[in-house]
Amino acid sequence: MIDRQAWAEIDLSAIRKNVRNLVALAGNGAGICAVVKADGYGHGAGPVARACLDSGASSLAVALVDEGVALRRSGIVEPILVLGYTGEEGAGRAAAWGLSVVAVSEDNARYIASEAKLRGKPARIHLKIDTGMSRLGLSPEEAAAAAAEIYAMPGAILEGVCSHFADSDAADGAFATLQLSRFNEAVAAIERAGVRGFARHMANSAAFIHMPEARLDMARPGIAIYGLRASTQRACPFEPVPAMALKARVVQVRTVPAGETVGYGRTFRAARDSRIATLPLGYADGVSRALSNRGSVGFGSGRAPMVGTICMDQLMVDLTDLPEEGPGSVATIFGPGGPPVSELADLLGTIDYEVVCDVSGRIPRIYSDSRMEED
Ligand SMILES: Cc1ncc(COP(=O)(O)O)c(C=O)c1O
Repeated sequence: MIDRQAWAEIDLSAIRKNVRNLVALAGNGAGICAVVKADGYGHGAGPVARACLDSGASSLAVALVDEGVALRRSGIVEPILVLGYTGEEGAGRAAAWGLSVVAVSEDNARYIASEAKLRGKPARIHLKIDTGMSRLGLSPEEAAAAAAEIYAMPGAILEGVCSHFADSDAADGAFATLQLSRFNEAVAAIERAGVRGFARHMANSAAFIHMPEARLDMARPGIAIYGLRASTQRACPFEPVPAMALKARVVQVRTVPAGETVGYGRTFRAARDSRIATLPLGYADGVSRALSNRGSVGFGSGRAPMVGTICMDQLMVDLTDLPEEGPGSVATIFGPGGPPVSELADLLGTIDYEVVCDVSGRIPRIYSDSRMEED
């Protein structure tokens, strides 16, 4: 057993199942570019990437050049697309490591191409069009001229033309439909300019699942891969399988007499003689302090409420109603065996993404894979 008494269990067979469901939904259409940025949404980019590629994804996406380089260093040879802004230094590294990059302007595309040329490598470019996210990219009206320029650049390959939805998770699909039509018009203009051979991609998980017309040549699902909610307003047509469970072992149980308080700021007062257990993880591990006196954790025999203010490295739960649990018992903070990620996200007023991305680097990730049994 590991020395650390708190850990995250990552079930790679869950990742595989989710990817297979996405691939089945795509039919013979869109390729799946699995989004593994932010260390695979906290799950560990390397193992997640391998599982996705083995289950039918054809490429990967990250946010940063360094994330792509780390995947290359781990032995991944499949296409990797850098979704975020790539500066000059990053462009050189991307070319050297055979990464594709998003260009957000003509200027950006020019130095991506020149940095690649300096290294004698092709510049693999995906031109980003801003169709309504107002974050990165050039306007639909500028797209044809920029695409034509990149297409004509020696050493540059216009691999893709892409955009990103602002609210494809919303129940009302009107804006997403408008964004898609802006994108399709820009693509038509690019084609009229004589540019060919690029992949069109725009869909994140929610668009991929709920807007078949947005799947185009390739889609970039992230959150659905991890078995979490792509939308809180629309039901997923398949059963997503959550891949991460955050767990910790009870390291001590103290009897706290009625009237005594627990933790910093004395925010919890025991109404009865209580068995208060300490779990060795806290907000520095990614358990939000905003869950203090609000969240609960799962044990084999039931739920135990979090009591007192969550500390940096520890948190306390009330085991009074769970007499079978004691030192050494395993608590599930979220994921299979405990509260679902969605419960924490809803309590915190955030999205599932943030809950898993917040699990810090000092929590060891332990991988399981029941692939042999499945295949
Ligand atoms: C450009 C881009 N594409 C795709 C994704 C994947 O989105 P999701 O996790 O909602 O599927 C993201 C994630 O934020 C993104 O920024």
